[in-house]
Amino acid sequence: MSTLANLALYQERINQFLEAKIDALEVNDQKLLDAMRYGLLIGGKRMRPYLAYIVGEAIDADSNDIDGIAAALECIHAYSLLHDDLPAMDDDDLRRGQPTCHKAFDEATAILAGDSLQTLAFDILANHEFSDKVAAKRVTLIRQLVNAAGYQGMCGGQALDLSATNQDVTLAQLEHLHSLKTGALLSAAILMAAECSQDMLTKHKLALATYAKLIGLAYQVQDDIIDITSTEEELGKPAGSDVAANKSTYPALLGLQGAMEKAEDLYQQALQALATLPYNTENLSNLATFIVKRRS
Ligand code: IPE
Ligand code: IPE
Ligand code: MG
Ligand code: MG
Ligand code: MG
Repeated sequence: MSTLANLALYQERINQFLEAKIDALEVNDQKLLDAMRYGLLIGGKRMRPYLAYIVGEAIDADSNDIDGIAAALECIHAYSLLHDDLPAMDDDDLRRGQPTCHKAFDEATAILAGDSLQTLAFDILANHEFSDKVAAKRVTLIRQLVNAAGYQGMCGGQALDLSATNQDVTLAQLEHLHSLKTGALLSAAILMAAECSQDMLTKHKLALATYAKLIGLAYQVQDDIIDITSTEEELGKPAGSDVAANKSTYPALLGLQGAMEKAEDLYQQALQALATLPYNTENLSNLATFIVKRRS
């Protein structure tokens, strides 16, 4: 992970921004606020913010504009994990090396903390002090996050994931499921950051969208691979959780070797998409490498 340029810097930057957002909330219910803080701030690789920041770097965006986008994305991601771990969904006890939110608190509080982090994401997008040019695109940004997070995106993918459990699915169905549950938010990280450019050509936006789609899918393929190849200690979440729950995953459908080949194929296609862009895309290609090599 340390090979990703400026990763520690951007992690620190987004952590400080998110911590300030939580600190600014008045205390209505101390337990709920503590659970929100727990779900948002106890770790995580911050990949969605990182993606937004490195796209911002490539197109020379204002970092303050990216802060608002990155924070909103991470709030949605954190909420999705709180709900994903609940007994009604994956029923996991460990997340980011710590007890899951519903174990550290209780189920009702974890549900409400997830709900509150979801609305915090839109609070941030609605109220962030963007530069004038990006503020003019506020509704577009909100629309992009809605599409990525809701029925058309992550939530839809999570529903497909649940209905595919204990079922045989086709490769096309699995790809659709993965693209929604994980790909949509990663794509949003890239495309929302790209909105900060005033003059990006449509063909370049399309190339970036293709890269986003490919690495978004690769991210979940690798998540499925490391579920069976990494240890609980490496992952900070239970290993073998997908097999235990009889989840539909790439390794379950194609075997471990087939899943690894799929990740490699997506990776190569992602690099090809980047090659058509007129920006310095070194960080984006390194991130693609990181995604398919990561162990946690
Ligand atoms: C885990 O996401 C769930 C998936 C969408 C694959 P991450 O691997 O980004 O988890 P954190 O945020 O680093 O804990
Ligand atoms: C979850 O996928 C994706 C989300 C939208 C939260 P997983 O269920 O595979 O994520 P982990 O393995 O628990 O992190
Ligand atoms: Mg899940
Ligand atoms: Mg899970
Ligand atoms: Mg997983």
